[in-house]
Amino acid sequence: MNGESDIPRRHVYGRTKGKTLKPRQANLMETLFPRVSISLDEAVIEPKTLFGDVDEVWLEVGFGGGEHLAHQAETHPRVGIMGCEPFLNGVAKLVSEIHERDLANVRILNDDARFLLERLAPSSLARVFILYPDPWPKKRHNKRRFINEETLGFLASALRKGGELRFASDIPDYIAWTLAHLSRFNREKGETFRWTAERAEDWRRPYEGWPGTRYEAKAIREGRTPCYLAFERL
Ligand SMILES: C[S@@+](CC[C@H](N)C(=O)[O-])C[C@H]1O[C@@H](n2cnc3c(N)ncnc32)[C@H](O)[C@@H]1O
Repeated sequence: MNGESDIPRRHVYGRTKGKTLKPRQANLMETLFPRVSISLDEAVIEPKTLFGDVDEVWLEVGFGGGEHLAHQAETHPRVGIMGCEPFLNGVAKLVSEIHERDLANVRILNDDARFLLERLAPSSLARVFILYPDPWPKKRHNKRRFINEETLGFLASALRKGGELRFASDIPDYIAWTLAHLSRFNREKGETFRWTAERAEDWRRPYEGWPGTRYEAKAIREGRTPCYLAFERL
């Protein structure tokens, strides 16, 4: 799945397989998935070429079961939406949704989002969603977090000027981590990401048209509070 890349394969933490797929899902993975799957064979990917006719392209990193992605695709038919998810059962769920809702504007990478991000043509994305990424709360696991200097570099390159990075989390330490990493990135590379919040309400209130995510519902049930960050690519 890592194409012909000579970049050493990064380690994907977390599970990539769960229960055996239901026969209907397994069938769609054989028939429909190859038609919507993103190939990593090219060294540079111009995302618009993966879709028919779209105005712009968005990316969701770690879409889980794909509930948010399918909602965005259905409500924004003129936007091409790419999703990356290494967990096969989540991919199978989204593929079922594509089938049920007849979504023509979704493309999927069943792998680590970094393999796609590093190949994206500069300024080719209008929006990126990183929603409830794995928190890796133990200090010694912090470095597994998706937000780091390397991924911020990929995001800075792939997002167009005026594009938006959305990062939601229920883990205060990961929120602080993300704000600190972005601010260090700005200091070292020049102002790149502008946190758009002006008041507390802006990070406490969900994004407009927000359908929620499965992980968010669990976090709220367990008494944690979501935080919704948004950054403009300068
Ligand atoms: C805590 S879950 C949240 C899922 C979903 N966004 C939600 O809010 O319900 C984090 C997801 O990120 C995925 N993930 C972890 N590392 C990833 C990576 N490097 N690239 C893409 N997805 C990744 C995991 O497989 C998992 O499904």
